[in-house]
Amino acid sequence: MSLPIRTEELFGPLPAGGVRALETRHGNTGMIRVLEALGMAGPHEVLSPWELRDPGGQHLVHAGGYAALPFGELYGPLVNFVQDFLGRTRNQALPTQAASSWRAALETNLVALLSRHAPSHGGSQVFFSNSGAEAVEAALKIVRAARPGAPKIVNFSRAYHGKTFGALSLTPSEDYQAAFGPLLDNVLTLSYGDTAGLERLLKTERGRVGALIVEPVQGEGGVRVPPPEFLPAIGTLAQRYGFLVVADEVQSGLGRCGHPFASLAAGLEPDVITLAKPLGGGLVPVGATVARRELMGKLLGGLGGKRHSSTFGGGTLAMAVGLKSLEIIEDEGLAERARVMGERGLDRLNVLAARYPDFFEAVRGAGMLFALQLRPVVPFAGGWPDALGGETLSQLGSALGLRTLHRHGLHACYTLNSSRTLRLTPALNMPDEVFDEMFARLERAAASPNSRSLLSAPPSVLLKLANLALNG
Ligand SMILES: Cc1ncc(COP(=O)(O)O)c(C=O)c1O
Repeated sequence: MSLPIRTEELFGPLPAGGVRALETRHGNTGMIRVLEALGMAGPHEVLSPWELRDPGGQHLVHAGGYAALPFGELYGPLVNFVQDFLGRTRNQALPTQAASSWRAALETNLVALLSRHAPSHGGSQVFFSNSGAEAVEAALKIVRAARPGAPKIVNFSRAYHGKTFGALSLTPSEDYQAAFGPLLDNVLTLSYGDTAGLERLLKTERGRVGALIVEPVQGEGGVRVPPPEFLPAIGTLAQRYGFLVVADEVQSGLGRCGHPFASLAAGLEPDVITLAKPLGGGLVPVGATVARRELMGKLLGGLGGKRHSSTFGGGTLAMAVGLKSLEIIEDEGLAERARVMGERGLDRLNVLAARYPDFFEAVRGAGMLFALQLRPVVPFAGGWPDALGGETLSQLGSALGLRTLHRHGLHACYTLNSSRTLRLTPALNMPDEVFDEMFARLERAAASPNSRSLLSAPPSVLLKLANLALNG
């Protein structure tokens, strides 16, 4: 049988409608149809690492990518490195049966970067996987194995740790959890930022809490920065009550929030750190779990350290891209740049929010991770079928917000655990003029009378979206 599509065809211009038809035939029909209704289904052409063009010819500043694109799309130095690497390397691709110089180098560099800021991690070890959720799974197994008599794990409201079974159990969202219960029990969810509540719980639980998992900045929760005393207090309480601290830095880590490790920047030295998104340079999936040596021993245990493993984790191409990505982040000073540009961007956002209060309800930022909460563009009362609950309406509102930004030349992204929040997650190396243009376009969207309420979306778009939400 000949396969229906040849790779060579995909380098040529495929008609946009053709790609979408193929996507909906065998892929995530729901997602593509919503994007289609919004006029944002793409596929988008990469004009530069920081700019896209949609099939209708609309030029877009690229602020999407869910914080996983530290250098934007197809960044020259990374692409050149990968081409060179594939031409020159003679290393086994899957080094799961042998030593690998590329894996060893990435472990070494990650631990060196971490211990520069947290000397107690000088002897730490790294387990590589293929996603953020897998990095969290490994962390979960570490704490279970290391604290056998203390099965309870504390997590926080609006947390997002991924959608594999264990990670999902730590992600308190009705939308994502409800269909899959029963999930892991012994998860105690506290309000994010509530130090007193945590201390009360620890007193009541008397040694049954084995670990706590926290995002130093909640990305999918809507770019939420906890009160300054919260993260240091977690460290103090961990010492006092003997539980392990896992910092989930899949989104906040490696520069996005203005420091290589947002937890350390805030004064918390975790036992275990999870990393992913930017480590793969936006090109390949890489997840990493970093833990002190004695803890990692609990995970890997057994003969040959195979109690936990992953066929592709630590693969040579992924490690090479991870190494180069870390090198670019360091060489170009991108964590510091994110801090400086982040402050400048947040100032800009605050000015815009004050100038257009009928468009922005709230804005937030942590480094180059920006949140926009727009006024509901869908009226919440009246006229909607009951089956469209508040959460769905809120998602529709955000979808329409994305559409408004897109029409003003700004490619933003939604937020998984805060349906009212849109995010701007520009590349950390976005040139100053493109960064400024991003805010200029945001201002044009905010200033446009057409961006207000329902008027921005023709009834046909709304009807299509409502239909999709109701009937799938
Ligand atoms: C803090 C955090 N942890 C874990 C994950 C899950 O990562 P992945 O989607 O790669 O599984 C995410 C993804 O957004 C995240 O932000």
